[in-house]
Amino acid sequence: MVATISYDLDILDRNISRIREIENQVREGGGNLTILYALKASYATLPYFSSLGITGEVSSAGEALLSAAHLPGKSHAFCVSITEDEWREISPLISHLSFNSLTQGGRFASRAESLGISCGLRINPRHSVSTYPEYDPCRAGCRFGLDIGELPNPLPQWVSGLHFHALSENSAEDFVRVLDAFEAGVSHILPSLSWVNLGGGHLCTSESYRRDILVAAIQRFSLRHPHLAIYLEPGAAWVWEAGTLEVEITDIVERSGVKTAVLDFSIRAHASDFLIGGQMTGLPFDVEGFTPVEESDINEEDLSERNTYHFGGSSCATCDTKGPYRTEQELRTGDTLRLRNMGHYVDVTFSWFNGTVPPSIAYQRGAMREMVVVRDAQGFRGAIGM
Ligand SMILES: Cc1ncc(COP(=O)(O)O)c(C=O)c1O
Repeated sequence: MVATISYDLDILDRNISRIREIENQVREGGGNLTILYALKASYATLPYFSSLGITGEVSSAGEALLSAAHLPGKSHAFCVSITEDEWREISPLISHLSFNSLTQGGRFASRAESLGISCGLRINPRHSVSTYPEYDPCRAGCRFGLDIGELPNPLPQWVSGLHFHALSENSAEDFVRVLDAFEAGVSHILPSLSWVNLGGGHLCTSESYRRDILVAAIQRFSLRHPHLAIYLEPGAAWVWEAGTLEVEITDIVERSGVKTAVLDFSIRAHASDFLIGGQMTGLPFDVEGFTPVEESDINEEDLSERNTYHFGGSSCATCDTKGPYRTEQELRTGDTLRLRNMGHYVDVTFSWFNGTVPPSIAYQRGAMREMVVVRDAQGFRGAIGM
């Protein structure tokens, strides 16, 4: 077996219909809303989304090319900065572009407008709802967007829209707080705009998410500003809970009483977002049949306990481990582990570090499984251009 991210198409359908329902409810209530697909969360699911009429949101020329290959129409873009080379590639492929700074806008906006691209500016609403400062784009000094209190008055003529992205797997209640702060800070500007993009990070397909609160907030905002097109750009929500990473144990080593199940998958190279994020936030992997164990709770007895394991990645990086976890049964080489909810930010963050092969991709509906992308050493040669 090769490590594989298996996407459950029934769960993708569930997510798509929950997102569609949000759009429909806002529109039925007289509001305006289009929910974009932020490509950065998952490339592997793009072919599945291709016939649904969803517009992509991209952050680079590479993503714009990918969106053009799979999704209809031109995409919306937010780019931290654009180079001349990138401009040549991205400009034919996008309809909306949010600049991260006035200098970037000054450099590219008139060229963008002459191509029919509607230009906007990312702002920092300075209303933090994230628990983790490293993941908080609203913190002071963050490189993203102009501070809401420092917007020039009047704004440059090219600014047709405002964009913010303030959330990361947050609730509707958190969103409402940011939206209120945004509206209060830019109410004098909104009449001169034609659109606002209220970012991603809305976990609006999860079971516990209050979609009614999101719908009501956007409807109210939209009725107060009926001239504005409103966009959301979630990524993770589209694939939430749909992807399971299946990995095989290739060896079990025991060193100083610490047992490590070595995997055919590198956490460091292929799930760096989860590794780094997990280290910052303390979030464990969700592994079927395993319970994370607090390192501080472990005593000598636990260490020698048969069924407490670390997971070890296949790369040479010492940090390529996660754990410890406890399970009911002793593990064996050849066993398969199922890591839940790994469909977002895994297939997009992999590197070919160490020449280790990233997970392959499968689509699954019930018992029917189709391998969509199989990754092997040939892919590595292609990726490094040899
Ligand atoms: C500008 C922007 N938009 C959208 C997203 C998508 O966020 P999420 O996948 O959490 O919905 C991100 C994620 O980092 C982002 O930076």
